[in-house]
Amino acid sequence: MTFMSAKPNFHRAKLESGRAVLAPMAGFSDAPFRLLCREFGAAWAVTEMVSSMGVVMNGRKSFEIGEPYEGEPDLVIQLFGSDPQVMAEAGQKLYEEFKPVALDINMGCPVPKIVKNGGGACLLQNPDAAHDLIQALDKAVPVPVSAKIRLGWDKYNAITVAQGLEAGGAACVALHGRTRAQAYTGQADWDKIEEVQSHLKIPLVGSGDITTKELFNERRHKAAGVMIGRGAVGRPFIFSEVIGGMSLGVGDVVRLAYRHALLNVAWYGEDSGMRQMRGVLGQYFKGFAGASQVRGRVTQMVTLEGLRVLLGELFPEVRLEDVEVGADFAGHTAAAHKSGHSSR
Ligand SMILES: Cc1cc2nc3c(=O)[nH]c(=O)nc-3n(C[C@H](O)[C@H](O)[C@H](O)COP(=O)(O)O)c2cc1C
Repeated sequence: MTFMSAKPNFHRAKLESGRAVLAPMAGFSDAPFRLLCREFGAAWAVTEMVSSMGVVMNGRKSFEIGEPYEGEPDLVIQLFGSDPQVMAEAGQKLYEEFKPVALDINMGCPVPKIVKNGGGACLLQNPDAAHDLIQALDKAVPVPVSAKIRLGWDKYNAITVAQGLEAGGAACVALHGRTRAQAYTGQADWDKIEEVQSHLKIPLVGSGDITTKELFNERRHKAAGVMIGRGAVGRPFIFSEVIGGMSLGVGDVVRLAYRHALLNVAWYGEDSGMRQMRGVLGQYFKGFAGASQVRGRVTQMVTLEGLRVLLGELFPEVRLEDVEVGADFAGHTAAAHKSGHSSR
């Protein structure tokens, strides 16, 4: 079955709100983090990348990465791979299982394991292959599809790639303003992002180095939308700040960090949840006197109780007793356990 008729105009409609989008980040953009970013006002949140081959082969881990929390709004699942047929089949399976509002293909990942199989940034070297891949996915699912690209492999060809994606049926393209060769060095080039947008009819979402409200305001006119990745790690409230919300005080940040740990433990179980938190917790404790000592200690914590006691000791004025995961998330955990969801 192919879905060539008009699809819901998800991306453009959401971007009209002026809110920023949570960038997909392997190892970070999981259900607990997506929930926090959505609560603070992210327009939508993209999952960590899911292997299209893994989904087709029924790999549990691949499915789990794309799994929404109960009641997750506007789920967008990102896939990686290079085979159009596999991509189409994986998209169909994920759509049937989780009913995402849109699917996205990773065409920017520089990691050798992904690139050597023709996926991720490798697709930037072959705009025709990128076109065929998005077209196959677009025909396979009833929801809009998008791709996330970089400026190019080692030289700038994002206009050609993005126009090919548009012709292949993409409803939106996200562009990280660096080439694969640049990895994360230098600055993301927002003038090139603006140039690529000017060659497209579909909305482009710019990505790279947005870490403050000021940077967001400076660059937001360069594309239809703005993505925030690293700037949201330990600072999910940046999504509120960029639309005029108040900055959080230290006490609120401490409560938020603890809530993130509660969510992680609910989602992954205590061992995996606290282990995964280690890379994230320290990011919450920055920019105030004594922050580095706090970071050193909180990132050692292996149990939730240990974290609660330590935070109580370090911040005696902050109440943690009433911090909760939130009803939606608790609901998810129950459903997940019923269906055999495992921690990772
Ligand atoms: C740890 C990490 C993991 C990432 N994983 C992905 C990914 O799975 N898919 C993707 O398209 N981009 C991924 N990216 C790129 C980000 O989505 C984003 O484009 C990039 O970090 C630049 O934006 P930022 O400066 O706001 O972080 C990742 C970036 C980081 C730092």
